[in-house]
Amino acid sequence: MNRREEFWIKCWRDAAERSLYREAFSEERKCWDASADYYDTGMGSSNERVDVLLEYLKCQGFWEGTQKRVLDIGSGTGSFALPLAECGAAVTALDCSAEMNRIVCQKAQEKGVDVKVQTGDFNRLPFETQAYDLVIGSMNPGLYHPEPFLKMLSLSRDLVVYVGICDTPVKQKSEKCRKSLDEILLGHTLTHGGSNQVKYPYQLLKAMGYEPTVLPVQCQWHCAEEENQAVERLVRHYETVETGITVKKWREAIRNYVKDNLEEGHFINEGKTVMGVLVCPLKLEETALEMTV
Ligand SMILES: C[S@@+](CC[C@H](N)C(=O)[O-])C[C@H]1O[C@@H](n2cnc3c(N)ncnc32)[C@H](O)[C@@H]1O
Repeated sequence: MNRREEFWIKCWRDAAERSLYREAFSEERKCWDASADYYDTGMGSSNERVDVLLEYLKCQGFWEGTQKRVLDIGSGTGSFALPLAECGAAVTALDCSAEMNRIVCQKAQEKGVDVKVQTGDFNRLPFETQAYDLVIGSMNPGLYHPEPFLKMLSLSRDLVVYVGICDTPVKQKSEKCRKSLDEILLGHTLTHGGSNQVKYPYQLLKAMGYEPTVLPVQCQWHCAEEENQAVERLVRHYETVETGITVKKWREAIRNYVKDNLEEGHFINEGKTVMGVLVCPLKLEETALEMTV
């Protein structure tokens, strides 16, 4: 490992340490199970990230030749897995949430496409190296650390795709709400935009001698949540940082907070951000690799 690689791995670890994703959350799977049914509604227009990738793959001639093998890590409700299967790939959709996988199976059946669905934690499962042509991880907290990212790289023989957040200012109502809830429950504001930023895998790949590209995607969402739905989502969110909560009856505090912020009976969860779709070919010229050592 060269010095630049070590530097960016350290930067990424430090960012994880300062963020919500500092350690694997044992109840992670339960949280995703509970949000599976309304995950698609909350994602708003951010499916543009999928169109951007499909366009890139087409322009690069990715589909030429034999059938491609794809692994989608943390596939959720199948945002990427299903369209990639529709393009003819043999897709494995891996997710730790059985509920997310149930939705993928249901959608695959409706669309008449084949997707191999696997339930499990990526970080605990063994995989064969370079077994896939494309390995993708999109907005998956299980990949917001350098170690799982390096594992992800080792599984692809051609292309890796990583979707994270770009380093841009975000103005969003839900974030404003979360910040004041942060203040109420934790006494300070959490750094949400930490290790989920695409700059870390980007810089690490550059340090390793690869030529990644980040395709920016504007996305926004607007979701008028029922009171209970908003309370459940926020409770799940704060369960991940429960050790930092200083208020005793914090679930009740969240319930009161949602009640106080209802607009015509609904809690408005809306916002916008810029996502980065990082694409990186892994087939390097021998000479380029030698130069990075
Ligand atoms: C925000 S969703 C993203 C879903 C999809 N990739 C997308 O772009 O819409 C994150 C998903 O990652 C899954 N996940 C989180 N940690 C995981 C892990 N360690 N192994 C496998 N799946 C994981 C969650 O269950 C959830 O479905």
